[in-house]
Amino acid sequence: MAVGIGIVGAGTVGGTLVRRLIDEHDALEAKTGLDLEVRRVAVNDVAKERPFTVPDGVLTGRALDLADDPSVDLVVEVMGGTGVAAEVVMGALRAGKPVVTANKELVAARGPELFDAAAASGVSLLFEAAVGGGIPIIRPLWETLAGEQVRRILGIVNGTTNYILTRMSEDGASYADALAAAQRLGYAEPDPSADVSGADATSKAAILAGLAFGTWIETAAVHREGIEGIARADVAFAAELGYVVKLLAVAERTGGGVSARVHPALVPLHHPLAGIRGATNAVFVEGPSVGELLFAGPGAGAGPTATAVLGDVVDAARELLAGAQVAPRIRLAAASGVADFGAIPTKWYVRLEVADRPGVLAAVAAAFGDHGVSIKSVRQEGRGDRATLLVVTHRAAEADQQAAVAAIGNLDVVAEVGAALRVESDEP
Ligand SMILES: NC(=O)c1ccc[n+]([C@@H]2O[C@H](COP(=O)([O-])OP(=O)(O)OC[C@H]3O[C@@H](n4cnc5c(N)ncnc54)[C@H](OP(=O)(O)O)[C@@H]3O)[C@@H](O)[C@H]2O)c1
Repeated sequence: MAVGIGIVGAGTVGGTLVRRLIDEHDALEAKTGLDLEVRRVAVNDVAKERPFTVPDGVLTGRALDLADDPSVDLVVEVMGGTGVAAEVVMGALRAGKPVVTANKELVAARGPELFDAAAASGVSLLFEAAVGGGIPIIRPLWETLAGEQVRRILGIVNGTTNYILTRMSEDGASYADALAAAQRLGYAEPDPSADVSGADATSKAAILAGLAFGTWIETAAVHREGIEGIARADVAFAAELGYVVKLLAVAERTGGGVSARVHPALVPLHHPLAGIRGATNAVFVEGPSVGELLFAGPGAGAGPTATAVLGDVVDAARELLAGAQVAPRIRLAAASGVADFGAIPTKWYVRLEVADRPGVLAAVAAAFGDHGVSIKSVRQEGRGDRATLLVVTHRAAEADQQAAVAAIGNLDVVAEVGAALRVESDEP
C-alpha cells in the first residue's frame, strides 16, 4: 500500500527531498519495502522553477489544506519559522497524521505542546534533521540511549561559527576576515546574526536538553553568547595554553537542575571536539555507563538534511502501515528543573591588560580569592608599561567568576579585561 506524503516547503531541503522521493522511489522501495508517493508539495510561489517535476495538482500554495487532504497520510514540514509552520504541524497532528519536521526553531519554541498533540493522536512527531542536520543524534538520544542517565552534552551545532573559528585558529584570520570568507563560500548568510550571535544554537541546546533530561527549557531562557567579540589574540593565546576556541551548545544536569547554554569556550586540544574543523558539526554525549560518545558530520546542507528527513519519513511510514497507536517517545518532567545559571560551576580564561609592576599579580589573585575563585595558572606576555596576563581559573560558581572579573576590571593596575571566556574541560 502506498503512503501519501505531503510536503510543505520545497526550498533547499524540501526541493532535494521531493526530487529524491521521486528519483529514488524504486531504490527506496527495494530497501525499505515502502511505496512512498509524493501527493502534495506546498510552496509559497507555485510559479517558481523547481529541481523536480510533479504531476498537475501536486504543487499547491495552500499549505494548511494538507492536514485535511485525504490523499496525504504523512506531513513533512520543511518551510521553517514558527508561524504558518506551527499551524501546519499542529493541524496535521490534530488530524491524526504523523509529522516529520526539520524545524529546530519550532520544536524548541513549541516542543511540549507539539508532543502533547502527537501523543493525543497517537502519532509520531519526528525531527532528526532539527539538530546536527545529517548527524543522527535525536534518535540515538531517545532510543539507543534511553537507558543511560546522560550527564552532559557538548555540541558544535552551528557550522557557520565553527568555520569562522577554524579560520581564526588555523590561518590566524581576524573575526571580520573569517566571516567574510564564510560568506564568500556560502557558509554564512549575508546577514549572519542568527548564527554568529549563537541564536541558532540556542534552539538546538534547548532540544538536546529536553531530550536528554526531560526538562524543556524555553529558548529565551538558554544563556547565550555569540562569537562576535572573539579576538584573534585570544584564539592564539588559547592555542599556546593548549586549547582551541569553539562555540558550544551545552546541555547538562547539575546538582541544581538542568542547564542549557550557548557560548564560546576553550576546549582542550586533546578533547574529541577540538578536532571538529570547518563547517562540520558534532555532538559529544557523556554518561556514567556509556562513557563518551561522539557523533559528527555535516550539520546542514540539502543532501545530508534531506537524508535525515527521509529516515524519519521511512520510520513514520512504517508505523503508519503497522496501524498501531504510537507511544510518546518523550516524557517531559512535570516540575521545571531549570538550573540557576549563576550557580553552575564554570572555569574561566581571563586576559588582562595590566601595568607591569610589582603587586599587580597579588592584587589580581586577591580579587579572585575574595570571590572564592582559585587560580589554576597565570602566564605573563610582554613587559614594560603594558603586559598581558593570561589567567585560567579552577571551577567555581559562574556568578562568582563574573563578580571576580568585574572587580578585577575596577582595579587601578588593570587597564582592561581583554577577554573572559569559559573553559570546558574535565579538570577541576
Ligand atoms: N538548509 C539547511 O541546511 C537546513 C539544515 C537543517 C534544518 N533546516 C531546516 O529546514 C527548514 C527549511 O530550510 P530551507 O533551508 O530548506 O529553507 P528555504 O530554502 O528557505 O525553503 C523554504 C521553503 O518554504 C516555502 N514556504 C515559505 N512560506 C510558505 C508558505 N506560507 N506555505 C508553503 N510554503 C512556504 C518556500 O516556498 P518558495 O520556494 O515558493 O519560496 C520554500 O520552498 C527550516 O526549518 C530549517 O531550519 C535546514
